[in-house]
Amino acid sequence: MEHAASPALLQRPRITTVERLEWETERHATVRFHDPLLAESPSGTFCMVWLPGVDEVPMGTGYTDAAGRVTLTIEGKGDCTNALLDQGAGTRVGVRGPYGTGFRLPEEPGRVCFVGGGTGIAPMSRGAQQAHAAGHDVTVISGARSEDLLLLHDHLKDRHATGSLRYKPCTDDGTFGFHGFTTQKLAELGEGAFDAVYACGPEPMMVRVVEQCRDAGTFCEASLERYMKCAVGVCDACTVGDGLRLCVEGPVLDGERLAGVAEFGVGHRDAAGLMHPW
Ligand SMILES: Cc1cc2nc3c(=O)[nH]c(=O)nc-3n(C[C@H](O)[C@H](O)[C@H](O)COP(=O)(O)OP(=O)(O)OC[C@H]3O[C@@H](n4cnc5c(N)ncnc54)[C@H](O)[C@@H]3O)c2cc1C
Ligand code: FES
Repeated sequence: MEHAASPALLQRPRITTVERLEWETERHATVRFHDPLLAESPSGTFCMVWLPGVDEVPMGTGYTDAAGRVTLTIEGKGDCTNALLDQGAGTRVGVRGPYGTGFRLPEEPGRVCFVGGGTGIAPMSRGAQQAHAAGHDVTVISGARSEDLLLLHDHLKDRHATGSLRYKPCTDDGTFGFHGFTTQKLAELGEGAFDAVYACGPEPMMVRVVEQCRDAGTFCEASLERYMKCAVGVCDACTVGDGLRLCVEGPVLDGERLAGVAEFGVGHRDAAGLMHPW
């Protein structure tokens, strides 16, 4: 995937300000800020977000809003993400990127499906936006334990209402939409009904989506999350399979490449390189 800006510019943090923060759940919020490079970035790519004095962390770029602002949907998990959410609107952050590979949309307008779970719905919202703009018929399947945990719920309902996508929310407890898992919803819609399926979320979910699409003969890509430090292919922290650096050759991998990643669905490495099961 080619990026228009020079590599040097992509690697320097660009200072911007969080203009809005909207809580989605008690632990998740969507933030908006201006950054022209990320606003134009291919869906599936990611950025590094630096909170001065705290840390720098990778984030999947979400949809671009009507004011041209980039969105990130963040789960408060530890020092950096909690500090970002606590500081909220007005916080100065540094962003670099976009990095990595994006989703490969079909060349001709067709039917595409984005399957998201947790904060994985953020890059899916961007994929859906770009697929609609490219003339594709777009379905978004989003999953959570219950209605109050469905991320980007209002945004996706709005996009559904305007006809730019078909929103298929799924809840484990049946409090909203389909009662069951995203993978069951995909099977109900028929994997073979789509020209391409994209997944981002918990790895066991992505493993299932990739298997279902392989069985149906449908092109599929999944976006993997691994520990990242440099994001530019130098430190080896994010390497999976036979030397695939996810920050450069990923995070989006197609079904064929994933077949060669033995740890897909099995485990991930921490900052020290130690393997942990999912
Ligand atoms: C390509 C990519 C896209 C991501 N997109 C999003 C997103 O859209 N929204 C979101 O909320 N989170 C996203 N993450 C995960 C996010 O980077 C981590 O939750 C964050 O780094 C945690 O940092 P912390 O200081 O808050 O927590 P910590 O206490 O430092 O860590 C909590 C947990 O987060 C993970 N983590 C910590 N540091 C990193 C790191 N540098 N790289 C990867 N994982 C890490 C580890 O599993 C760790 O156990 C993404 C990660 C990757 C690799
Ligand atoms: S994060 Fe350093 S090589 Fe990928």
